[in-house]
Amino acid sequence: MNLEEGIQRLAERLTGASRVTVLTGAGVSTASGIPTFRDAGGMWKNFRPEEVATPEAFARDPKFVWEWYEVRRQAVLDCRPNRAHEVLAAWSERSPAFRLITQNVDGLHERAGTRNVIRFHGSLFDVGCWEECPQSPHRWRDDTVPFPELPPSCPYCGGILRPGVVWFGEMIDPEVLRRADAALECDLFLSIGTSSQVHPAAALIHTAAALGAFTVEINPEATPASPVPDLSLAGKAEVVLDRVEDVLQRRT
Ligand code: APR
Repeated sequence: MNLEEGIQRLAERLTGASRVTVLTGAGVSTASGIPTFRDAGGMWKNFRPEEVATPEAFARDPKFVWEWYEVRRQAVLDCRPNRAHEVLAAWSERSPAFRLITQNVDGLHERAGTRNVIRFHGSLFDVGCWEECPQSPHRWRDDTVPFPELPPSCPYCGGILRPGVVWFGEMIDPEVLRRADAALECDLFLSIGTSSQVHPAAALIHTAAALGAFTVEINPEATPASPVPDLSLAGKAEVVLDRVEDVLQRRT
């Protein structure tokens, strides 16, 4: 099936589906100017995850880790949602049973106005107390850039703050996992712009398929999950989603 036929098929499925769940990864934000992790030029080509994205790295050198997160926070604030974010936001408005699970920590889905976003890996703009002091909430929003000093201090106990993202080796928040699991009971599941290499997010498409969803992958490259979906659209998210939306608009 060529890309154009696939786009028509997805538009048909969307029209007939009442429960739509989308999983996104870094590929949906590339058109906004945010690099992915594993492509050529991706962030993990310049940094090793063990140096900046593990609790051990933070314990070793919190200032260095915070400097990396501040650069990312600033870069994201300078970016805008792209057409992929906009189309998904429009679908979230139209369909009451729309859920979007994102591995992205950039907040661009929310800035595009998407409803029912499940932030699987936290947010670049959330923080938490590194010592988990009992006075503080688990995570809270603080989008100060730059902080007056690094690492920033916890307003509750005077200790240090950590970025509110999920690092390698950390568990996904149980409530987030519960919401994501519930979202897998759907008619249509789309996996968009993720290399499907990081668990447990990579397993979601398998579970959705096992639960009976029609599954779709949108990615210009094949991934380890590519044998699973009922429909594969080998194109860029911002182009494919724009085309699907165009087909939907013409039908109404
Ligand atoms: N449209 C759709 N997909 C794209 C586009 C695009 N315009 N550009 C790139 N891609 C695809 C790539 O082909 C690749 O498969 O996006 C994917 C990006 O993969 P990764 O860089 O591995 O990003 P992601 O899957 O989101 O990573 C998962 O890894 O390091 C962690 O916590 C980080 O949440 C992240 C997780």
